[in-house]
Amino acid sequence: MIRVNENYAKLQSSYLFSEISKRVQAYQSANPDKRMIRLGIGDVTEPLPPACIEALHKAVDDMAARSSFRGYGPEQGYDFLRSAIALNDYKARGAEIDADEIFVSDGSKCDTANIQELFADKLTIAIPDPVYPVYVDTNVMAGRAGRHVQGRYKGLVYLDSTEANGFVPDLPESPVDLIYLCFPNNPTGATATRAQLAAWVAYAKANRALILFDAAYEAFIRDPALPRSIYEIEGARDVAIEFRSFSKTAGFTGTRCAFTVVPKSLMAWNKKGEAVPLHPMWNRRHTTKFNGVSYPVQRAAEAVYSAAGKQQVKALSDFYLGNAALIRTTLADLGYSMTGGENSPYIWVNVSKDSWVFFDRLLKLAQVVTTPGAGFGRCGRGFIRISAFNSRENVEEAMLRLRKTMRA
Ligand code: MLT
Repeated sequence: MIRVNENYAKLQSSYLFSEISKRVQAYQSANPDKRMIRLGIGDVTEPLPPACIEALHKAVDDMAARSSFRGYGPEQGYDFLRSAIALNDYKARGAEIDADEIFVSDGSKCDTANIQELFADKLTIAIPDPVYPVYVDTNVMAGRAGRHVQGRYKGLVYLDSTEANGFVPDLPESPVDLIYLCFPNNPTGATATRAQLAAWVAYAKANRALILFDAAYEAFIRDPALPRSIYEIEGARDVAIEFRSFSKTAGFTGTRCAFTVVPKSLMAWNKKGEAVPLHPMWNRRHTTKFNGVSYPVQRAAEAVYSAAGKQQVKALSDFYLGNAALIRTTLADLGYSMTGGENSPYIWVNVSKDSWVFFDRLLKLAQVVTTPGAGFGRCGRGFIRISAFNSRENVEEAMLRLRKTMRA
């Protein structure tokens, strides 16, 4: 008899962004004349940088000629892209990461979900609250969490991120094995200093724990004192895996390209207490289950690191940060307190009310879509997340609508 994975039954309703999209569609069908402005899911709106488009076109031409045609590429990614990443994202910032420690993929969502295949079934997992829901849901699917009770799964160690700790969670009180961190943070937009990351690295070392560090939003960091990679912290390459993406950096949400760094010095332990390197394990997983990102897309990603590409990509994130500044000013004028939006495209607003109720109110009164904080965890219940990913015109219009409907 074929049996189902009963862990799926523990999951809460639908995936957060599917639930939001369902509510928005229902409202839109009932009110076809209303124009919605979407500041919910962090999906980019601006076209790809010209350097990427040019590289894409050229790569398509390569595919049209026998002499330059490419079939299956290396599952880990082409050397031209892995080397450009190692040089520009890591070595240029003093982080010793080699090209062959980088695995190119089609997204950080998949990578952060898939990486847990490398670890034992029974682990103590520390997850910040609020958090990108993929980290929690995929561990539930894998059977590493118990029942959902009062907004939390039994068996997970939740790390509260609140106004009191500046949305950077404190170290766990009891030992954990696997730690999820994301900075600049989704959803709160908070950033972590070098000292804060160094404390996590020291904790992981002392407890033989592993950090999964999601740096998908590093391109939005403007404060030069903030680390962009966990590998800027000494010793991190022995305790951390880092996830990066071209989605928000270069507008690749629809184009799909990301990468994961698994340093060769990174170990986990088997039941005999022997150290096992994770790099060959991830290489095995990646080569068995993934056939690589398409050649034209990898060429487009490589162009992000050209002189023109660097400038255009910076202009892109500057543009969204300009939107974020507009959102911040409007909310401050309306009397709300918030975090994020300065080194991050997300603004986390304290609405001091049930976040789904507030979400529905904004949808109905202003036709502005946000993301209810409760969807990211119990600590998000009194917050909404506003995304800066949209056109300037739409953000300006959305802010006008908020000014009319959202006085605190
Ligand atoms: C978000 O809105 O949190 C992100 O766009 C979701 C994602 O990157 O998968």
